[in-house]
Amino acid sequence: EMVKTLSDQKLLMGFALYGPRRIGKSSLLLEVRRRLRERKDIVPVYFSLWELDQGTIAEFNKELTARILREYKHRLGLKQRVDDLLEYPRRAVHGIITQLKLKAEIREDIELLLTYDQEPKQDPGSIKRVFQLAEELAIETNTRCVLMLDEFPDITELKYPKKVGERIIKLIRTIHGRQKHTLLCISGSSKATMNMVALSPTSPFYRQFLIREVKPLQKKYVREIITKNIDWNVTDKAIDKIYEFTGGIPYYVQFIGRQLYMHDRKKTDEHDIENIIEEFLEEEGNILFKRDYEVLSAKEKMIVEAMAIKDINKPSQIARMQREPITNVYPFVEKLMEKGVLERKTKGIYCFVDPIFKRWLKRKNIDKGVKNEKYT
Ligand SMILES: Nc1ncnc2c1ncn2[C@@H]1O[C@H](COP(=O)(O)OP(=O)(O)OP(=O)(O)O)[C@@H](O)[C@H]1O
Ligand SMILES: [Mg+2]
Repeated sequence: EMVKTLSDQKLLMGFALYGPRRIGKSSLLLEVRRRLRERKDIVPVYFSLWELDQGTIAEFNKELTARILREYKHRLGLKQRVDDLLEYPRRAVHGIITQLKLKAEIREDIELLLTYDQEPKQDPGSIKRVFQLAEELAIETNTRCVLMLDEFPDITELKYPKKVGERIIKLIRTIHGRQKHTLLCISGSSKATMNMVALSPTSPFYRQFLIREVKPLQKKYVREIITKNIDWNVTDKAIDKIYEFTGGIPYYVQFIGRQLYMHDRKKTDEHDIENIIEEFLEEEGNILFKRDYEVLSAKEKMIVEAMAIKDINKPSQIARMQREPITNVYPFVEKLMEKGVLERKTKGIYCFVDPIFKRWLKRKNIDKGVKNEKYT
């Protein structure tokens, strides 16, 4: 659907993808880029906000410009490697860019953008130039530029040197609103920040995107991934267990698939899966989840831990456990949904978006319990 819509010259609408961590948003964008690259009239540019080191406006400008140039390189007759250009002093960049068959203003823009971090101060308004560059190059080369910005809401975290905040979204909306040859596709992992950007009626990009939720894999695809490289029998119960554990989140399914492939055996049943999951939490749990856990407030931590350890999913049960009125619990459950940790299954029933995170919480606390018993 994305490839079809994005390459239809009559349509001028990009996509906003949202979905929890590790669900496959970046993979989807990269796959779309791969397919769009095959077309003469479309130039896809993929850039993830997570690739930035310093997270400054200057760095964003420079890196995105470099990415745009890389994709347009052959169409512009640019022979040097863009990576090399980034290292050159301004004078050398000038020499190379001057030779490109482009309007003088565009050449100036490229030059400025590439050497931008050699300039001291850069205000948020300067990002206008990068977005304009995409549009200008698209016009010059008679193409459509599809700008894919992965983890887009993080753009509000850019520094100049203070955090720019939400106004940069409005700014981009204004710039992009005038463009006819550039399509924007964005993705984000947290519902709350995607609300702020595009999903809620008060957000700058409301109704400017085709919004798609990236959903977990269905069971039949889980089976497909698991059995792809395996020539022995994996029982239905084992597949059920994998599906239940992973919630169909491809990152975990892939991990289990790899583990199975490495342990050569005659048959795989649900007990093997149980062991692999334990191994996984042991090896990767802390690396994956520590940060997700630390961004929670003390109260939120208490709630998710209670839910994980006691396996409860109703605010009333949480309230009873914490000995407080249910009205004190609701706001925090709400916040946890915004942060993408919990989701509402049906009325009054809440569960973890990521079942492995739940298991990690449970395991972490049980371990702690055991240790405490040992020492007291
Ligand atoms: N459709 C798919 N089929 C099989 N595996 C997939 C699929 N999509 C993604 N994966 C695998 O899942 C893992 C996570 O995917 P990806 O990084 O795209 O997710 P993400 O939503 O961008 O996550 P993050 O929040 O970390 O950015 C990758 O290792 C990828 O190989
Ligand atoms: Mg990603």
